[in-house]
Amino acid sequence: MRPETLLSTLGCMPDEHRGAVNTPVYRASTILFPTLAEFEAADRGEAPYATYGRYGTVLTDALENTIATLEGADHAIALSSGLAAITLSLLTFLKSGDHLLMVDTVYGPARRFCDHELKRFGVETTYYDPAAGAGISALIKENTRVVYVESPGSLTFEVQDIPAIAKAAHAKNCLVIGDNTWATPLYIRPFDLGMDISIHSATKYISGHSDLVMGTVSCREKHYKPLLRTFRNTGGCPGGDNCYLALRGIRSMAARLAQQSGNGLKVAEWLKKRPEVAAVLHPALPGAPGHDLWKRDFTGACSLFAFVLQQEAPPAGLAALFDGLELFGMGYSWGGFESLLIPLDLQNIRTVTDWPYAGRALRIHIGLEHPDDLIADLEAGFKRLKKT
Ligand SMILES: Cc1ncc(COP(=O)(O)O)c(C=O)c1O
Repeated sequence: MRPETLLSTLGCMPDEHRGAVNTPVYRASTILFPTLAEFEAADRGEAPYATYGRYGTVLTDALENTIATLEGADHAIALSSGLAAITLSLLTFLKSGDHLLMVDTVYGPARRFCDHELKRFGVETTYYDPAAGAGISALIKENTRVVYVESPGSLTFEVQDIPAIAKAAHAKNCLVIGDNTWATPLYIRPFDLGMDISIHSATKYISGHSDLVMGTVSCREKHYKPLLRTFRNTGGCPGGDNCYLALRGIRSMAARLAQQSGNGLKVAEWLKKRPEVAAVLHPALPGAPGHDLWKRDFTGACSLFAFVLQQEAPPAGLAALFDGLELFGMGYSWGGFESLLIPLDLQNIRTVTDWPYAGRALRIHIGLEHPDDLIADLEAGFKRLKKT
């Protein structure tokens, strides 16, 4: 079945819920056992379903199975946030004395987890250039266990050569963990490209309405048991209401993404022609950095990208641009129905990659508004910037 059909059918169990097409919200901590024999069997780990709300419900199973099927994985685990999905993956496969190769353009809080928490537990992190490709091999040490990828990278959208990195990593017995939030489960086949573990912040396009925080980890059979053990020992479970909303978001994900992707490209094309703009960092834009790799490895693009102003804008000019925006909101996260714009401060974030532009970079997320209205809002902003 094609993705659109899967999105409309997976996780629906009307026969088990008196015909209700949506699997209902399960709000559960305590799960009751009808007999002592069943209680004792559960204690031995022989229960047919989860025995405590933290371990999941029928609804969690429905969401997890849906994500796993979409990604071509054997299993998925739903978590309380995308960051919890990242930390679960790293905690499961690293131990004291191990070495981690982490892409320099990783999502900021994941970087802080490595620099502070993993370091406290004796795991060494080396950051690498997202353009490393097969050259990653030279950085792999005797004790390197994990190579972590995020493509395109956070904030500036560098596309990585995942198959080349995965080949080099596997040749030296390293696991490849990837954050695929940008591509969503629809626009990348992580396991076909060579990733072993696939992470999503379900906060973004999966839920799609900016009203919850959740994450998922998907894997093949052989990595499920260790992931599940660490998950159960760390307690990062999602709530029932969020699982329900995430599954509901999935129903419209293909339609939302198709619309937002097209709107995003339209705005990106417009920005490319503007005299105020030095570069548009959108992997799906022909001629943009990383476009060729994107074309080879992805089947679509979401509507999150960045652009760089010609020169460093004076603070008053930047404030005039932002403060007068009517449609673009200024706030973190992305993947919802609404458009967002934030200025980026790229100083002191990266440690091994040079940032080649003089002007200020802005990250833009295109929602479901009409792109012509969004363009008008940006055009007025550029006018205010110029005036100051
Ligand atoms: C690429 C990427 N990965 C992971 C996360 C973390 O997700 P969450 O906010 O659900 O913890 C984010 C959040 O912005 C993100 O942009």
